[in-house]
Amino acid sequence: KIVELAHYRPTDFVLERVDLTFEIDPTNTKVDARLIFHRRDGVDAAAPLVLDGDELTLSGLLLDQNEVPASQYTATAQSLTIRDLPESGPFEITVTTFINPQANSQLMGLYRTNGIYCTQCEAEGFRRITYFPDRPDVLAPYTITIIADKAANPLLLSNGNYLGGGNYDEGRHFAAWFDPHPKPSYLFALVAGDLGVVEDSFTTMSGRDVALKIYVEHGKEPRAAFAMDALKRSMKWDEERFGREYDLDIFMVVAVSDFNMGAMENKGLNVFNDKYVLADPDTATDQDYANIEAIIAHEYFHNWTGNRITCRDWFQLSLKEGLTVYRDHEFSADMRSRPVKRIAEVRHLKSEQFPEDAGPLAHPVRPTKYREINNFYTTTIYEKGSEVIRMIATLLGADDFKKGLDLYFERHDGDAATVEDFVKCFEDATGRDLSQFSLWYHQAGTPLVTASGAYDATTATFTLSLEQMVPATPGQPSKEPMHIPLSFALILADGTVATATGVTGGEVTGEVLHLTERNQTFTFTGIASRPVLSLNRSFSAPINLHLDQSPDDLAHIARHDPDLFARWQALTDLALPSLIQATRDLQDGKTVETPSALITALIETADDESLEPAFRAQVLTLPSEADIARELGRNNDPDAIHAGRTSVLAAIAEAGVSTFQSLFQTMRPDGAFSPDAQDAGKRALRNIALSYLTYAEQSPAPVAEAFSDADNMTDLLQALTLLAHRFPDSGETEGALGAFLTRFDANPLVIDKWFAVQATIPGAATLDRVNALMNDPHFTPGNPNRVRALVGSFAFSNPTGFNRADGAGYRFLASQILQIDPKNPQLAARLLTSMRSWRSLEPQRADHARSALLTIDRSATLSNDVRDIVERMLKG
Ligand code: ARG
Ligand code: ZN
Repeated sequence: KIVELAHYRPTDFVLERVDLTFEIDPTNTKVDARLIFHRRDGVDAAAPLVLDGDELTLSGLLLDQNEVPASQYTATAQSLTIRDLPESGPFEITVTTFINPQANSQLMGLYRTNGIYCTQCEAEGFRRITYFPDRPDVLAPYTITIIADKAANPLLLSNGNYLGGGNYDEGRHFAAWFDPHPKPSYLFALVAGDLGVVEDSFTTMSGRDVALKIYVEHGKEPRAAFAMDALKRSMKWDEERFGREYDLDIFMVVAVSDFNMGAMENKGLNVFNDKYVLADPDTATDQDYANIEAIIAHEYFHNWTGNRITCRDWFQLSLKEGLTVYRDHEFSADMRSRPVKRIAEVRHLKSEQFPEDAGPLAHPVRPTKYREINNFYTTTIYEKGSEVIRMIATLLGADDFKKGLDLYFERHDGDAATVEDFVKCFEDATGRDLSQFSLWYHQAGTPLVTASGAYDATTATFTLSLEQMVPATPGQPSKEPMHIPLSFALILADGTVATATGVTGGEVTGEVLHLTERNQTFTFTGIASRPVLSLNRSFSAPINLHLDQSPDDLAHIARHDPDLFARWQALTDLALPSLIQATRDLQDGKTVETPSALITALIETADDESLEPAFRAQVLTLPSEADIARELGRNNDPDAIHAGRTSVLAAIAEAGVSTFQSLFQTMRPDGAFSPDAQDAGKRALRNIALSYLTYAEQSPAPVAEAFSDADNMTDLLQALTLLAHRFPDSGETEGALGAFLTRFDANPLVIDKWFAVQATIPGAATLDRVNALMNDPHFTPGNPNRVRALVGSFAFSNPTGFNRADGAGYRFLASQILQIDPKNPQLAARLLTSMRSWRSLEPQRADHARSALLTIDRSATLSNDVRDIVERMLKG
């Protein structure tokens, strides 16, 4: 069944309030839902009330406290239809269901993880708890009563403010919560169990005292300190930057170990994958710390962008997700280094979203139909959605962007809004027409902009010709030209930025040029000497850019552009052709020659102490094998790409050995461990230097030494990874893997890393290792983090291992999908998206990939989730 945006209409009945009582039991939890409705004005008196369900059985049904005769309703596992309801005025429906949290392996609805009861209701999990109008445009205040065994569940939590509690019967107790803010069901949460807590408080700008509580497993409290600090910084920042204040007396975060996604923004009660809460220097890497900071902020920011203003329907998902990602990106940029953060964002966007947008799963930021909404929690909705917001900010400038956003918060507070509502606020606040710009929401595919510049000395003019093309995507064969904001600079020979005396050909505001036509030529006058063009600086638009530039011009940008992102981009553009050439040369049996211009530029950057270490580390991290594959576009042979990239790395390593040695020796942060961006940057630079050294010296000994010397997880894991990936069969590697396992045996999040390191060892032999690891006693198939660490890392992050020429990697994945799907369809569907670029493989691998997809497709019992992905993948 396909859901279509065009079919949207409001519900026939308005929900006024919700009163839920849970009697918690591991296998037989009783749920009483008292719902007060009235028929919406103008709705036909014969219209029935239809409530959603999923795997439910109805146990009781009352209308205004009287039993409803069987003739008046129809109940199935998926819906409850009640007829002959009052024509006007409020009435109360009481629905009783019994659910089994223990048996809920989908991790949607109410489930049990490590003895803790918790819920995940977005997008459509609430209907697994009780029959309900389970859609985001049905908002009501909720009162919640939880009754549970007191010894096993001292903690009883739900949304809103705590009303009170006490003893109940037979060793049970109860707690009641009230959330005054009307909310949709997907923001409901309940947690019951026995957990430790870290407490703090925050005083909002208007003086409200908010109790902050982070709940984690007993004994893990110290590892929640960084998350608490990130939470307080998020609350402060949202007040200062966006004027957004928190609105309840308490804000809670609960960390659980079995969770399908990263985290969930339930009102006042965020539930987190514990991977994004728990950190200390011994067990978390710098990347883990950065992720925790970003995700704590993301979920907190949802309180305004998502909860106070929610989505009318799930087609509007990016309304909250794109905007909230934009907000968490800005937060991290303010907490850390803005250009380094931008580089990391763009790397992520290009490696995850660009392939999605170029393959069979491509869809617009604001889709118009879906078969399974769980499959739309994608990098397009999140990351491209955020880029669209960033472009609005670029187009309008900071002041007008703020005006528009303030209007959005004011006009739509309490609403279930649409993307159109959002865009209109910027139009109304600024008088600007954003209709062409809105195509970014509606047209899928990454636009390709082809640019060329020409300088005419006699007239002192620089001419920039631009052409845009948006590729065809599933369901969208032809596209209109888009409004593409391109940040640019004309950099003169002395390194200064030229200011033109005039521009013709289109709109230019400050540093931003507005490309709006299919073909457009901008002419800049008063340019005294030949400039070097720096285009799409800071990645102002999420496009593919074709701009032929000489290595000298790229080196010039890399040396002089005031925009550090543009410098990184220039060095990447310098490196990519060499990586591609190396791949081709090896395929043709030629020896690889890495251009000395590239080597010099990289080593010069590595040595440049005026640049922050984190930036230098980014520059030295060459485009990945996946980046190269994407650039090649078709007929990909992952083994050739790997070999080509390896030979370029070796050439850089040999030429730069003294630089890398000295960086490895000197880039050690002073003093006690701090997860801050500066120290993390030093560790990143030191560790990438160590990585180059493994290409210069063919011995595991220095890395084994780094492994023994490491006094934090970042350094330890980097050493372990280098040992395993560069010297997989060495005794040193075996020893280090063993020592690591012994040391962290009791820490599941670190054991995940142990699995992931091994699953990503390059080469065809890794599949055997992965198969062996599936039988390791540490492999727990019901835990999504563990499955992602082993199966996910192999499929997503091991190009040579997964894409083995004989297709065994694809067959392995297919069999895993078929085993996981009956238990956890969301997880299975997500893993399957690792094959989204299968059509760009060389023919033999593509054939193997298709066969594996067909094996899945032929299964008669697929979930809607996997069915949707596999069919789109085979069709698109
Ligand atoms: N809204 C959550 C977040 O981005 C993600 C929840 C996704 N859940 C799901 N079942 N698809 O913060
Ligand atoms: Zn989100």
